[in-house]
Amino acid sequence: MTQIKACLFDLDGVVVDTAKYHFIAWKELANELGFDFTEADNERLKGVSRVRSLEILLEIGGIELDEERKEQLAAQKNENYVSYIRKMKPDEILPGVEDFLNQLRKNGILIALGSASKNAPLILKQIGLTHMFDAIIDGNSVSKAKPDPEVFLKGAEALNVKPTDCVVFEDAQAGIEAARNAGMHVIGIGHPDNLKNADFVMPGFEDMNIDKLNFN
Ligand code: G6P
Ligand code: MG
Repeated sequence: MTQIKACLFDLDGVVVDTAKYHFIAWKELANELGFDFTEADNERLKGVSRVRSLEILLEIGGIELDEERKEQLAAQKNENYVSYIRKMKPDEILPGVEDFLNQLRKNGILIALGSASKNAPLILKQIGLTHMFDAIIDGNSVSKAKPDPEVFLKGAEALNVKPTDCVVFEDAQAGIEAARNAGMHVIGIGHPDNLKNADFVMPGFEDMNIDKLNFN
């Protein structure tokens, strides 16, 4: 049985539901460009980097733009997104997450963030959770997007824990693959139909406790 020494958390969709703010901001951009963007389209952007998200959005709208214009639009979307996350409060932490983090700390299990978002520090500050993380690896400190394992390997390294002693919590398929590519255990957050190759999938943290961190 593996003794888990560290838990690595994705942020968007695991700790908080920021997907709804990403959705509003992308939809506003799409509408401005003259096409619609649906919640189903938004599913395709989960766990995907900002630049890649814009490319997918432009594909949906059938629009081709040069790099400079794409950079402008990504910046515009981000400004709009940030105006929403600046209003976030601790009551937006998803149910059960805080209790589970407290349980981990009490039991000496280390905690890291492994997120693709460049806005992760602001979100953690807004919801009052920065102090709970022993290491924060986010979109500002990685160069390769999930499913590349970089974000999680850097997390394990910062905590000085072997990848095999880590478990990742992820709501996106690319994130599950990143954890597997890092040689870590992985628990999916969401529905098993959308999350393949996890050790197990749960709908959220409400029924989570450290006794479930036992892997063969
Ligand atoms: C997470 C989200 C994605 C988002 C990405 C970059 O992975 O799931 O939807 O595009 O972070 O976020 P950012 O805040 O840097 O634009
Ligand atoms: Mg996510």
